[in-house]
Amino acid sequence: MYIVQIASECAPVIKAGGLGDVVYGLSRELENSGHCVEVILPKYDCMRYDHIWGLHEAYRDLAVPWYGGEILCDVLCGWVHGQLCFFIEPRSQDNFFNRGCYYGCNDDNMRFAFFSKAALEFLLRSNKRPDVIHCHDWQTGLVPVMLFEIYKYNWMEYQRVCYTIHNFKHQGMGGSDILQATGLHRPDYYFDYDRLRDNFNPFAINFMKGGIVYSNFVTTVSPHHAWEAHLGEFGYGLGHTLHLYQEKFRGVLNGIDYDVWNPETDGYIPHHYTKDDLAGKAKTKKALRDRLLLRDADKPIITFIGRLDDQKGVHLVHHAIYYSLSKGAQFVLLGSATEAGINAHFQHERQFLNDNPDCHLELGFNEELSHLIYAGGDMIVVPSNYEPCGLTQMIGLRYGTVPVVRGVGGLVNTVFDRDYDTRHLPEERNGYVFYQSDYGALESALDRAIGLWYDYHDEFEKLRLQGMNCDNSWKYPAKDYVEIYELIRHK
Ligand code: ADP
Ligand code: GLC
Repeated sequence: MYIVQIASECAPVIKAGGLGDVVYGLSRELENSGHCVEVILPKYDCMRYDHIWGLHEAYRDLAVPWYGGEILCDVLCGWVHGQLCFFIEPRSQDNFFNRGCYYGCNDDNMRFAFFSKAALEFLLRSNKRPDVIHCHDWQTGLVPVMLFEIYKYNWMEYQRVCYTIHNFKHQGMGGSDILQATGLHRPDYYFDYDRLRDNFNPFAINFMKGGIVYSNFVTTVSPHHAWEAHLGEFGYGLGHTLHLYQEKFRGVLNGIDYDVWNPETDGYIPHHYTKDDLAGKAKTKKALRDRLLLRDADKPIITFIGRLDDQKGVHLVHHAIYYSLSKGAQFVLLGSATEAGINAHFQHERQFLNDNPDCHLELGFNEELSHLIYAGGDMIVVPSNYEPCGLTQMIGLRYGTVPVVRGVGGLVNTVFDRDYDTRHLPEERNGYVFYQSDYGALESALDRAIGLWYDYHDEFEKLRLQGMNCDNSWKYPAKDYVEIYELIRHK
């Protein structure tokens, strides 16, 4: 099959979080199983050019219709660790993607509406006719809308779209200006509850809703989150829309790329290890301590890696630091905060916590350090308020770092409580789970994990190995996607 992914991230060249990992990892697995995959991305000024090989011009002067006129773009092409990617670069004075950041601009909705339009125009003009277009999150919600409302007239009729929602909280809203700009000309038609009109704001169109209504198939990134979004509180207003389209909606659990995240070969860690020989993990723990100036003591290292925002349960992250230290553990945090208040809070904490020889907070995005922390840590805490899938717990498992998580979303599908999970055999259990989003629940899970490390060290080592034995690769999820692609192709 010929599959084109349209997305705003692809790791490691463009990565703000798990979306980038997923676009890259799924593409590689599909290619390795014999499919042809291409990825279309914006060409941001701040992307990691050092991860692109053979960047060259693939299409010059792509005229993208915009507000009745057109914006000329160049499309560049290169390989990102074996994956063929196309990068769209508008040539207008105010280039939408030369902003020094991936997201967070006031006109994000316009920027990604333009990207979606340009991606379709590129497919059309370069005569690419994929069997399936797979697009991701709100940024590309308008792709199926424009495909089926505008491009079907000058396009092959058989185009199919699979739309994956990674985060329901960010849906992409706009007014009639978006419709005008993109050439979706009949506002009354689109401002309809059955089409793009937001379920709560009658004056807004909702990109993600458009993606759900117009795509041939819709997925979110874990079975449990599919349930939460459809019937629980995490659909952020789209529950009813999902209900209307439930026949074409499903949760497919993400995987992680087992070549990128592999303690046997990881180029970012100083000592390699396997589940049969964990000596390298102990040495890496020492290297992590040396690097972060933590004292060498007989203590477990508890870690957190992630975006510091409300989704990730920052109040519990903050509490986990102090509680772990009080229970005789060390704590390492690597977090990126985009919200000014949260950033200021953790900057402030960092100033005096980093004087403590048992604690280190590192703020910002640091791919290389993240690998060292996954490998050198003993536990990884993921106390999210909601978590569509979550990759850090899966990476933790792969590196023998025991997850301590809140039982929401994909965390429910991947972490099975050592003491209480009666749905899994004792030898299948791999971590600790708590449910309430409060200090007491978090503390009791941390108590159990830290207690096991101190009092039953062999049992803790066994739990590590049970985690390393889990298969969270893309092997099975990619098969699920191929099944979905086949289903919509033949409809
Ligand atoms: P989300 O996509 O909601 O941010 P995920 O758990 O799905 O969360 O994926 C997060 C990805 O981003 C993982 O690969 C994780 O290692 C990485 N990551 C998150 N924050 C940082 C950071 N500050 N530095 C380096 N990598 C990070
Ligand atoms: C989103 C979600 C996260 C998920 C990731 C990849 O950013 O917040 O839970 O793992 O996408 O699908």
